[in-house]
Amino acid sequence: MRFRVPQTLLFGRGQLAEVPAVLVELGVEKPLIVTDPGVAAVGLPERLQQSLAEAGLASAVWDGVEPDPGEEHADACRGELLAGAYDSVIALGGGSVIDVAKVAAVLATNGGALASYFGFDRVRRQGLPLLTVPTISGSGAEVSSHAVIRERVTRKKEVVSGTYLVPRAAVVDPAITRSLPPTQTAWSALDGFIHAVEAFLARRSNPFTDAFARMAVPAIARALPRVLADGADLTAREDLSLGCLYAGLAMANANAGAIHALGYPLTGRYGIPHGLANALVAAAALERIGPGRPERAAELARLIGNGNGVADLAHEVRQLLTAVQIEDRLSSWGVQEDDLPSLAEAATHFRPVLENTPVLFAEADLLSIYRAVWA
Ligand SMILES: [Fe+2]
Repeated sequence: MRFRVPQTLLFGRGQLAEVPAVLVELGVEKPLIVTDPGVAAVGLPERLQQSLAEAGLASAVWDGVEPDPGEEHADACRGELLAGAYDSVIALGGGSVIDVAKVAAVLATNGGALASYFGFDRVRRQGLPLLTVPTISGSGAEVSSHAVIRERVTRKKEVVSGTYLVPRAAVVDPAITRSLPPTQTAWSALDGFIHAVEAFLARRSNPFTDAFARMAVPAIARALPRVLADGADLTAREDLSLGCLYAGLAMANANAGAIHALGYPLTGRYGIPHGLANALVAAAALERIGPGRPERAAELARLIGNGNGVADLAHEVRQLLTAVQIEDRLSSWGVQEDDLPSLAEAATHFRPVLENTPVLFAEADLLSIYRAVWA
């Protein structure tokens, strides 16, 4: 049984102000703030730089991360780190920003081409100290030991995973998420919700991941509708962020499952946002996954709402999706019926998450799930 977490976790409104103190604790003094143009546009990097300057820490900002980042972003970020002789990295953004910062931090000290680290445990040395500050709740990237990056030529998503990818510290400040629009809030939070559900049903679940998954599921299911009803309700935002942080800790250690295998090709081919892609297939997938761990599926149904038995899990998930107004089908995102077989074939390639699911899915099973949610 293993449970890996950042050595320091800070949570709560206003914790952004504690970033300088965390850096001092880490013994670093020249961080590069890695972010993207969207986060830069709302002035967050400047705010952070100011509080670092007040603590006597010189920093710079690099906002070169784009959505669905590739090797080129990781290389550019590494180049920036080396050229400026930075001694640490602050990832200020969503999952894409954090993933680029993670791989750049290890590339800066390990050297070589990123492609040589694709896979599990191929990074051999500690990277530059990395502190993550998520600007959206749900991805779990702020605490996890992996990053997803597109390969330069094939444009396929590759994973870099291992102990040295775990950030040294994570500062989760729900006040930062206040200005996030409802759709992004919902999609990303549903990703977090599904992380907790999949971690709880996972073959690799353990008592540590169970504890966090059990706290995450009801927290997100209760808080998300409140946040969507009033985006300025900071208490609800805080409850949602905490639930998503719990979910991230569960997923980071138990890994996700077949819902993610089904979701990835939808994002890669049609640009359906990751959290939404997972949400679209979740209930149909859970109808088939639940019976693989029936007591746990029944417990999840109770944790989400009023469910009782294994058969209620998919129903409870549908109720939650309806409550947060997610009623899209694959066809509403341009997926053609003829595309479904090749999507199912693509989903079979995500073996680590498929093998982590309590029911083993053949290609035909994956296809029948896509068909169930197509129109
Ligand atoms: Fe996810």
